[in-house]
Amino acid sequence: MRRKMTGISILLITTALATVALADHGHREHHGHRRTKAAPTTAIPAEELARYREECGSCHLAYPPGLLPARSWTRLMGGLDDHFGQNAELDDATRLELTQWLEARAAETGSHPRSAKALRSAGADTPLRISELPYILRKHHELRDEVFTRPEVLSRANCAACHRTAEEWVFDEDSARIPPR
Ligand code: HEC
Ligand code: HEC
Repeated sequence: MRRKMTGISILLITTALATVALADHGHREHHGHRRTKAAPTTAIPAEELARYREECGSCHLAYPPGLLPARSWTRLMGGLDDHFGQNAELDDATRLELTQWLEARAAETGSHPRSAKALRSAGADTPLRISELPYILRKHHELRDEVFTRPEVLSRANCAACHRTAEEWVFDEDSARIPPR
């Protein structure tokens, strides 16, 4: 009888601890959510955002400038004729204007809540992909590779397939869902 009681006590204590752990996790999530609640897009004049989306958002999400270093945007914008196997060329004036616009909002400027982490993750490299930053890869390490090959996803670069708030440049666990197979 004594032994049995001890067993139940341990069970109760374990349950209590698990509840505390869950509450703590919930708290952290809530905190994280609050941090990114103000969409980073709202800090940008609407017409500038519309222009960027028009030029760079027709084939894929108009990616947040704040998730790559300025040198990455410079290099990317210098090679639009062979842009990940596609021709995304712009006239010179538009290209120069957009290049400056992207550089002025790059990770160094902290324009996105995750800029500092993206910048640190890039290290001394000049990455051309946000999807392959070690920081971003790490954030998805619990997802199996198979998930990124599903018909609605097809690519790690297809943020909007899973992040419902990707257009607002808000990427958090709460608004991410994985499309069915
Ligand atoms: C003609 C279509 C097209 C246009 C227009 C275009 N892109 Fe892309 N872009 C692509 C393709 C294709 C990829 C590779 C996508 C993939 O791997 O799934 C890509 C990938 C990218 C990536 C890397 C995504 C990642 O994190 O893996 C960035 C950054 C990017 N584009 C920026 C731009 C910018 C800035 C512009 C505007 C100047 C632009 N793109 C215009 C087709 C385009
Ligand atoms: C196949 C669906 C899918 C794609 C594609 C995807 N994500 Fe995610 N992402 C998720 C899920 C699910 C999570 C939550 C992961 C977890 O909780 O372990 C997540 C988490 C994240 C996080 C961390 C969120 C947090 O609360 O800390 C960031 C940042 C992020 N994604 C950014 C991106 C970006 C940027 C892209 C595109 C370049 C992208 N994701 C593409 C599904 C996806």
